[in-house]
Amino acid sequence: MFLQMEKTSWLLVVVVGVVLISLLGGAEGRKSRILDESSYYDLEYSAISCRAHSASITDFGGVGDGKTLNTKAFQEAVNQLSKYASDGGSQLIVPAGQWLTGSFNLTSHFTLFLHKDAVLLASQDINEWAVIDPLPSYGHGRDAAGGRYISLLFGTNLTDIIITGENGTIDGQGEIWWQKFHSKKLKYTRPYLIEIMHSDNIQISDLTLVNSPSWNIHPVYSSNIIVQGITILAPVKSPNTDGINPDSCTNMKIEDNYIVSGDDCVAVKSGWDEYGINYGMPTSQLIIRRLTCISPYSAAIALGSEMSGGIQDVRAEDITAINTESGVRIKTGVGRGGFVKDVYVKGMTLHTMKWVFWMTGNYGQHADTHWDPNALPEIKGINYRDVVAENVSMAARLEGISGDPFTGICISNVTISMAKKAKKYPWTCTDIEGITSGVQPPPCQLLPDQGPEKTEMCSFPTENLAIDNIEMQRCSYRLNY
Ligand SMILES: *[C@@H]1O[C@H](CO)[C@@H](O)[C@H](O)[C@H]1NC(C)=O
Ligand SMILES: *[C@@H]1O[C@H](CO)[C@@H](O)[C@H](O)[C@H]1NC(C)=O
Ligand SMILES: *[C@@H]1O[C@H](CO)[C@@H](O)[C@H](O)[C@H]1NC(C)=O
Ligand SMILES: *[C@@H]1O[C@H](CO)[C@@H](O)[C@H](O)[C@H]1NC(C)=O
Ligand SMILES: *[C@@H]1O[C@H](CO)[C@@H](O)[C@H](O)[C@H]1NC(C)=O
Repeated sequence: MFLQMEKTSWLLVVVVGVVLISLLGGAEGRKSRILDESSYYDLEYSAISCRAHSASITDFGGVGDGKTLNTKAFQEAVNQLSKYASDGGSQLIVPAGQWLTGSFNLTSHFTLFLHKDAVLLASQDINEWAVIDPLPSYGHGRDAAGGRYISLLFGTNLTDIIITGENGTIDGQGEIWWQKFHSKKLKYTRPYLIEIMHSDNIQISDLTLVNSPSWNIHPVYSSNIIVQGITILAPVKSPNTDGINPDSCTNMKIEDNYIVSGDDCVAVKSGWDEYGINYGMPTSQLIIRRLTCISPYSAAIALGSEMSGGIQDVRAEDITAINTESGVRIKTGVGRGGFVKDVYVKGMTLHTMKWVFWMTGNYGQHADTHWDPNALPEIKGINYRDVVAENVSMAARLEGISGDPFTGICISNVTISMAKKAKKYPWTCTDIEGITSGVQPPPCQLLPDQGPEKTEMCSFPTENLAIDNIEMQRCSYRLNY
């Protein structure tokens, strides 16, 4: 079977060039050309690794007619290609077509590449979805106690995984899952579109993800992760369709993404109550850059609510949100434990918002009844600067925890234009401590103004994180028909 595959259609010929990512224009990275329709197809994109071996899903009996179920073809393809892990790695190409599939598992030193007109259609047959254990840092599933349906694309204990394309599509066909959720008919927690666990060196780029049953991209207990050039679309009232959720991950970059969803566009997490405290794995060294978000009922960036393993060193830059509930929101509560500290936000452009800044110290939703009432979260060192917001109902709602104030809040160079029907008092502040400079409308008394000459005072680190120093390679393939 395997040798046969090599002889058939998709043979890899050409060169693999190495170039710095800075030399690549965004569109350039996705370009592919059909030079001569009768013989070959040239593919070029940038990636953390290029592969020595390529195959097409059609080599494994895949049929892209939107009706044939391809779960076995995909799993067989990955299993066969995994044999190349120590021989230059492999790439599975999904050509134009509609590829109906259930969940399949990924492997190391592996690239899944979607052609621009390729659509992975998630099966709506619930039997196609295996049930796996809850995450150890959560103890429970999010929708129901106990197990959870495995994600459409799943990987665990891997290294060097790429999921990319020319803006090809992964369609979760989530409608049936949303209905089951609303009618409380779910036995297990809904599947995500992509989940990678206990892994490192991950790239997820240049794809469109639509109608996920629940969260879209969930890297967990992983490191060295790039999520770039992703479009995520879901109805704004669809339940829990979070965009990108880094969860107990370190050294990660989320860059150039466009997200319209029914929940937080980016939600930074690290486990739930006593389970997250015990697991003790923070999310740290996270960059979020050039995010555009539309989420009328949620935040552009949320930190929490599951933050019990801690969140530290988050750098958000050039964030745009339109018709979104809040800009950056911290969600926590008594029982969560953990910490959120050293958060830096620089440059937000916001239109039509309920709150620009929101911190919630009484977020409920416990995993079970065994949470520790003495487990208080530490929220400290939260910096916001250079924000322009228009048509805002309330500037800020900052609510710490009584006896456990949120401290070291710094807000500078912020201009908020209130909506015609804005609330009378633009700021509400309780159990918080911090300072401000150059903020309009004038902040609450708990955030004293340091004077107009201090507008640059809220810090933003200047040294690079390791993830910004990764050199992308230019991968070129000539694929023969
Ligand atoms: C995929 O991985 C999960 C978790 O390790 C496992 O339960 C499942 O059986 C795997 N699926 C296949 C088809 O191997
Ligand atoms: C995956 O890695 C985790 C963390 O290192 C480990 O606890 C687990 O046993 C590993 N699982 C497998 C299937 O190797
Ligand atoms: C990718 O596809 C989506 C959905 O069709 C579209 O909105 C977006 O502009 C495309 N992105 C790129 C970079 O072509
Ligand atoms: C301002 O926000 C309100 C909702 O608060 C919305 O109905 C209205 O369309 C927005 N106006 C503009 C000009 O965006
Ligand atoms: C204040 O913020 C605006 C953008 O919101 C930026 O253009 C300007 O340079 C900032 N001013 C200072 C002093 O940093």
